[in-house]
Amino acid sequence: MTTVADRASLITRLLTRDGQQDPGPVFGELHALGEVHRSPFIGRLVTSYRAADALMRNPHVGKSRPDGRRGLPDEDVHASRRLLNATMLIADPPDHTRLRRLVNKAFTPRAVGDLRATIEGLIAARLDEITERAAAGEDVDLMDTLAFPLPVTVIGRLVGMPDADLPPFRTLIGDLSTVLDAITDDAELAAADSAADTMLDYFAGLVRERRAHPRDDLTTALIEARDTGDRLTEHELLTMLSLLFLAGFETTTHLIGNGILALLRHPDQLAKLRADPDLMPSAVEELLRYDLPTQTVSRITHARVTLPDGTVIPKNRFLLISLGAAHWDPRVFTHPERLDILRDEAPTLSFGSGIHYCLGAGLARLEARLVFGELLRRFPEITLAAEPERRINNAIRGLTRLPVTLRTRP
Ligand code: HEM
Repeated sequence: MTTVADRASLITRLLTRDGQQDPGPVFGELHALGEVHRSPFIGRLVTSYRAADALMRNPHVGKSRPDGRRGLPDEDVHASRRLLNATMLIADPPDHTRLRRLVNKAFTPRAVGDLRATIEGLIAARLDEITERAAAGEDVDLMDTLAFPLPVTVIGRLVGMPDADLPPFRTLIGDLSTVLDAITDDAELAAADSAADTMLDYFAGLVRERRAHPRDDLTTALIEARDTGDRLTEHELLTMLSLLFLAGFETTTHLIGNGILALLRHPDQLAKLRADPDLMPSAVEELLRYDLPTQTVSRITHARVTLPDGTVIPKNRFLLISLGAAHWDPRVFTHPERLDILRDEAPTLSFGSGIHYCLGAGLARLEARLVFGELLRRFPEITLAAEPERRINNAIRGLTRLPVTLRTRP
């Protein structure tokens, strides 16, 4: 019989460094035990697909805490939590609705479609450089040369940041995003706070510059919304820009890195995709399921909630929703541990669900389809040159190094 202590130790394993290397077996054990698991230190861990989806859609489940304050605690002492708490990501309606409406326009399918040529140009430039190095017989780290620089440049261009400003943000965003982690230590929080201060200073400078010299970019559009109406405070303007940049960059980076690695580790699936590039949209959905960048999202119950299986969760309970586990739920996905680019069993939860459904899902999908397609077209053979290195964080799952050997076309 499984005891409370066994369950707690499984949850601990899942959230710690060892468990993160290979969470699949822990997901399997948790699924066998049920859909939602009580934990003394995180409230409830939600692992089933059905419960995760239902909770993210439930209007009585949100982000604010029982005292009515925004979701991340101790914002008075932590700049990083203060920053995120001011954004739509951590807001409930009506603030959420107001903030999201201001930027919706920039992410409609049409607006995203308009970015296609820019993205294709950036991919070509990156792959030209990689081709040169591969032709000279060098192994290439695809995180350094592709997965980091591409999404940061795409979102940077959209926001209106000069390309030359972008390189320091790789470290800054890595430091800041640990604030979404369920378990952080003091050193990580200090680094996140310092990154938050640097980001807000940077965007204050960019806003000053665009107020003086408007351009056709998202920063200028948000300044107009701020200055011509009463829809956004100055602090919300700066935190909105920080959020778009944070949310649009690292997640996409890790979709690219995790996706390439999954394909390299499943040569049969890679061969299938090479043989029929029209399978790309379905392959991207499966890569998003198989090893997704956003492992967890958090919520708090604002009323007593009943789940589809009849489980009742009382009001004011913290929920850690494991999207990673939901994607390996055997009640929904047959042999979830297998990568199958033809799979069509349930929509991905990678972009969340309900009112916080990812604003940039269309952009992320477009970037991934274009970059995987072009990478496979240019290089008829790609093999791992050394073991990849993993970034350890239980909110964002990704790689720091992905060294490969590439054969170029003659
Ligand atoms: C929200 C995942 C790319 C902007 C979310 C959420 C998830 C997610 C899971 C919901 C969080 C929650 O419910 O608490 C991803 C993944 C991406 C990606 C896996 C790439 C593979 C992007 C891009 C942008 C973006 C390119 C562009 C700016 C946002 C924003 C929100 C959000 C602004 C907050 C929406 C809201 O609270 O209403 N994303 N995202 N994301 N995402 Fe993404």
